[in-house]
Amino acid sequence: MTTLLHLNVSPRGETSHSRRAADWIRQKLAAQHAPLTVLERDLAADPLPPISAAFTDANMAGAAGLLKEGEVPPALALSETLIAELEAADMVLLATPMHNFTVPATLKTWIDLVVRPERTFRSTRQGKVGLLRDRPVLAVVACGGPVREGPGSQQDFLTPYLKYVLGTIGLTSVEVLRMDNTARGPEYIAQGLEHLQTWADATLPGLVVPTEAAA
Ligand SMILES: Cc1cc2nc3c(=O)[nH]c(=O)nc-3n(C[C@H](O)[C@H](O)[C@H](O)COP(=O)(O)O)c2cc1C
Repeated sequence: MTTLLHLNVSPRGETSHSRRAADWIRQKLAAQHAPLTVLERDLAADPLPPISAAFTDANMAGAAGLLKEGEVPPALALSETLIAELEAADMVLLATPMHNFTVPATLKTWIDLVVRPERTFRSTRQGKVGLLRDRPVLAVVACGGPVREGPGSQQDFLTPYLKYVLGTIGLTSVEVLRMDNTARGPEYIAQGLEHLQTWADATLPGLVVPTEAAA
């Protein structure tokens, strides 16, 4: 049995391009990795609370080695739940819009809750070392406009950031599908769907799911 963690970020429900694309990918994954168990987390329908002082203190206490073995202060309970969802997943499917060139605030809060010193990464003299087992992460990113080289074009800070921050906790197998120009009309949407198909054909058959490889 393979477990997929499906994270949705867009607040736009059924009209969301990233959600629709991710649902299509999920169907493909279900056929390819049957039986597929899906853990769903909708960061728009159930937004996570902003980082609190209590969370910050408990997080820093963990970083300083001040928590007892197995001790989970109440302020870290939600973070532990989110990390447990990641740990339970053999694959992650993340569907998100681009907001102001990077991740939406709701996704950033999820990141702040799962990227924790001495829990999901360790700081060493050589830099941060991820503590989670690697597993495929498929990220679908919808952007209203184009991303391209040259003056006047917008930059994509989302893709490199997402890869960097997930890599920090050990998730280095991140594949990003960016669907540009969603705000520019049906012709561009059709191009995005073609791109989705090509990307899926190139990416999904080669996915190495560690627990499946070991089985
Ligand atoms: C607050 C906000 C910021 C946005 N920033 C950008 C941006 O920086 N670049 C871009 O191309 N589109 C931007 N958009 C447009 C969305 O990325 C686009 O509508 C996308 O399709 C939303 O994803 P969804 O269709 O999955 O909901 C922004 C939209 C909102 C609401």
